[in-house]
Amino acid sequence: MVSTPAQAVASGRQYLPAFTIDNPSPNQYLLPLTAQVNGQEHLEIGGCDVPALVQRFGTPLYILDEATLRAACRQYRQAFQTHYPGESLVIYASKAWNCLAVCAIVASEGLGIDVVSGGELYTALQAGMPPETMYFHGNNKSVEELHLAIDAGCTIVVDNWLELKALTEMASGDRPVQIMLRLTPGIECHTHEYIRTGHLDSKFGFDPDQLDRVFQFVSQHPQLDCIGLHAHIGSQIFELQAHQDLTGVMVQWLSQAAQYGLSIRELDIGGGLGICYTEADDPPSIEAWVQVICEGIVQACREHQLALPKLIAEPGRSLIGSACVTAYTVGSQKVIPDLRTYVTVDGGMSDNPRPITYQSVYRAVIANQMAKPLTETVAVAGKHCESGDIVIKQALLPKTESGDVLVVMATGAYNYSMASNYNRLPRPAAVLVHAGEASLIVQRETYQDLIRQDCLPERLLHNR
Ligand code: LLP
Repeated sequence: MVSTPAQAVASGRQYLPAFTIDNPSPNQYLLPLTAQVNGQEHLEIGGCDVPALVQRFGTPLYILDEATLRAACRQYRQAFQTHYPGESLVIYASKAWNCLAVCAIVASEGLGIDVVSGGELYTALQAGMPPETMYFHGNNKSVEELHLAIDAGCTIVVDNWLELKALTEMASGDRPVQIMLRLTPGIECHTHEYIRTGHLDSKFGFDPDQLDRVFQFVSQHPQLDCIGLHAHIGSQIFELQAHQDLTGVMVQWLSQAAQYGLSIRELDIGGGLGICYTEADDPPSIEAWVQVICEGIVQACREHQLALPKLIAEPGRSLIGSACVTAYTVGSQKVIPDLRTYVTVDGGMSDNPRPITYQSVYRAVIANQMAKPLTETVAVAGKHCESGDIVIKQALLPKTESGDVLVVMATGAYNYSMASNYNRLPRPAAVLVHAGEASLIVQRETYQDLIRQDCLPERLLHNR
């Protein structure tokens, strides 16, 4: 008999979303919305038995739940429709996970996309993303990348003077280049130092004291069509206050731009809404975040007597983070009496560099033992030759054995996209699960893939 998520929660497996909640906000759960424990007491996602997926596709394996990703896309769009009387657009910050299938899903949900490199731009175009919904970011775009973006017809989010001046020269007379200006709002938020971007000491965007000069410059160059202003204050943010403050700052910029005769029609508020990585995390829902932003913009526009701009948000993590888990196979264990037990998995910092980079904390379950009591606190170690390669420092798990399937939760954002080949590990495969079907969306790399770009100069050939 299939136990319901609610029964699972009642029996102490608190990671499953409570199915009784209408329209749950995916970022508030550790597991994808379709997660269940099935009759074999296995974890099931998108109607697929996770140990069976592992048998078929191997490990490490990213398992992406289509329903959860689509639910998050819809919640963002619906929340804007409910709370904003003007036009709005949600664009997916694809640095969280950029690949053809993910781009195609978000495009089919009516979202636009934020890309930050020629590679992300190329992938989004190949996935069929309409260029008019594409926004190209970056603090050091190459001339080649700028040409690619201009030719594609997407909006370029200009970050600095060098880029601004280069664009005036690159724009051909007949069709102005559509740009947005990225500004640094000087707003502090509570998140890891490396993922904070809106404070004054940031490498991104024009400083507020440059605003007049920038607006004047843009107003004197008709080959640039400045359609909007952009700011992003940071990532994995739980308080709503910082974004509420940002709305006031950005509308103030709008009124300043109006003095230069610039008709700026769009405001892009960035992304940043946090997700749950542990049961202690308590992020606001997608709707609550959107509501605060919409109300802030509406109120500030009323105060400044400005027409409502098209309002854009560019979430990444909160769209895809909770939609994915990573499955590993448990291997060796090292028991250090009275100190610690290390349970080793067949991946680690190459498929999830977040613990070693940001000291991020994750939670795990044993997918083939969902009914077994949680009796051990162990360190889940990766297989890389690096002591710091610890996936989870303290994981509460049932007694594990070699061959068990360990599933780390909430790995949809900034895992695959930041994966590397450290120690020459092939990057994992990714499968998309939906209604009991699993489709490969990223193939597992092979050893041949690892040497594909290597070149062996002829004079070294005799060594083979
Ligand atoms: N817009 C801009 C301009 C950004 O720089 C970012 C993230 C986003 C939107 C999306 O933010 P989100 O909704 O995902 O919080 N690698 C780090 C996160 C870096 C975020 C960079 N910018 C991590 O793994 O936590």
